[in-house]
Amino acid sequence: HGCQAKQRDSETMAGLLNAMGYTMCDDEKQADVIIINTCAVRQGAEEKVLGEVGALKRLKTLNPDLIIGIGGCMAQEEETVKIIMEKYRQVDIVFGTHNITSLPKLIYEVLTTKKRKIEVFSKMGEIIHRLPQLLSSLYAKRKNVVEVYSSEGEVIEDLPAERKLRHKAWVNIMYGCDKFCSYCIVPYTRGKERSRYKEDIIYEVEELVKQGYKEVCLLGQNVNAYGKDLKIDYTFGNLLEDVAKTGIARIRFMTSHPWDFDDTMIQAIKNNKNIMPYIHLPIQSGNTQILKKMNRRYSREEYLALFDKLKAELPGFAFTTDIIVGFPNESDEAFEDTLSAVRHCEYDNAFTFIFSPREGTPAASMEDSIDRKVKEERLQRLNELVAHYANKNNRKFKDQVVEVLVDGLSKRNSNVYSGYTPENKLVNFTGNNVKVGDIVKVKITQVMSFSLNGEMVE
Ligand code: SAH
Ligand code: SF4
Ligand code: F3S
Repeated sequence: HGCQAKQRDSETMAGLLNAMGYTMCDDEKQADVIIINTCAVRQGAEEKVLGEVGALKRLKTLNPDLIIGIGGCMAQEEETVKIIMEKYRQVDIVFGTHNITSLPKLIYEVLTTKKRKIEVFSKMGEIIHRLPQLLSSLYAKRKNVVEVYSSEGEVIEDLPAERKLRHKAWVNIMYGCDKFCSYCIVPYTRGKERSRYKEDIIYEVEELVKQGYKEVCLLGQNVNAYGKDLKIDYTFGNLLEDVAKTGIARIRFMTSHPWDFDDTMIQAIKNNKNIMPYIHLPIQSGNTQILKKMNRRYSREEYLALFDKLKAELPGFAFTTDIIVGFPNESDEAFEDTLSAVRHCEYDNAFTFIFSPREGTPAASMEDSIDRKVKEERLQRLNELVAHYANKNNRKFKDQVVEVLVDGLSKRNSNVYSGYTPENKLVNFTGNNVKVGDIVKVKITQVMSFSLNGEMVE
């Protein structure tokens, strides 16, 4: 569950389990170990996980040796861990976001002691090189593996990972977040910002190129704050330039914060054709007072000025955003400001959410007299407006020939392939002899709000 950083963590967990001799299976009834990697960003995400854990109880009755683990951001919340340990007896292991490397040890301990284990570190960061050696020391039953968790503010390198895809890869460039937007749990669950060394990132991308990967997505809660914690004269813009030099066909990045969007970054994007013409730039609200209460560090005017500058300097780029409606005491006027910002920016798409109070964040204790119903109506209105501009933007592609990086067969129709254009538009198309990872030319024949249909022409 959760963001791409979380998906990437799942690949690392799969790599660790693989190193222990486990292999992936499709049927949960066959599984010896089930790990749920959780997200805590909104209440809904948490409820979904608890529902899933509830459903696993049945499997545990069928197979008492099954090991069930809960990792990720929910595990960093004390209250949630308490609930899991008290009410969900089927869960054997709870481990935090800073404890991924403990997974083999915890599984080993559950196997040998049959006792439930919790390990959640509030401190973040541990540097672990040569993990395979550590694993073998673990198998040699030297149990004091915990001692490797020491220094704060560093980054784990050289972990084995089972990447899910063979043509597109997520590459973490930094972990954590220092922004502390008042509604957001992420700084608490993921800890402070820690950038990886540029050499490690570039080496990883070079290796991916050698293995035939076509696309990398550079990941971080705040990619353009990259390098600030390292206190070196090297920014995200510089990193983009260096990653572009590896020659990988497509480069994406997520998420850039408007506050850290500098000119070096714009220049790097302009200079390199393999940096994709797509920018996700969360606005959250179009009203300056709400933005202030959100602690977003920019006003409506500053966001729109940046947006206009990007739009002018990067023609043909697609822009998407994130928006929260129903922030505590958001007035009708404040909400109207959000709608007018959407009209101004004419986004290609927006991920829209109703504010969800997260315990421990400042916004959770702000007074809020807005009715849930009002919030739902606002979301509805906002979504209609977003769909209108999504459709308007997509219409520009009618009868155009676009380049699609093929992901595979369409989920709905087995004669149809799917993939993404450089602007990150989903395309379903008919074609022959197409393989996952090919970049093919497709003529767009039909346009919907959130996808395009077409025929392969080459
Ligand atoms: N680091 C990214 C996004 C992280 S979370 C950024 O700063 O843009 C993804 C999105 O979830 C956020 O952009 C925000 O729109 C939404 N979100 C975060 N906390 C939320 C909350 N408490 N309630 C509703 N939406 C939330
Ligand atoms: Fe959360 Fe704000 Fe950090 Fe994004 S920038 S992860 S919204 S605190
Ligand atoms: Fe969710 Fe944690 Fe990502 S809270 S959004 S999985 S950082």
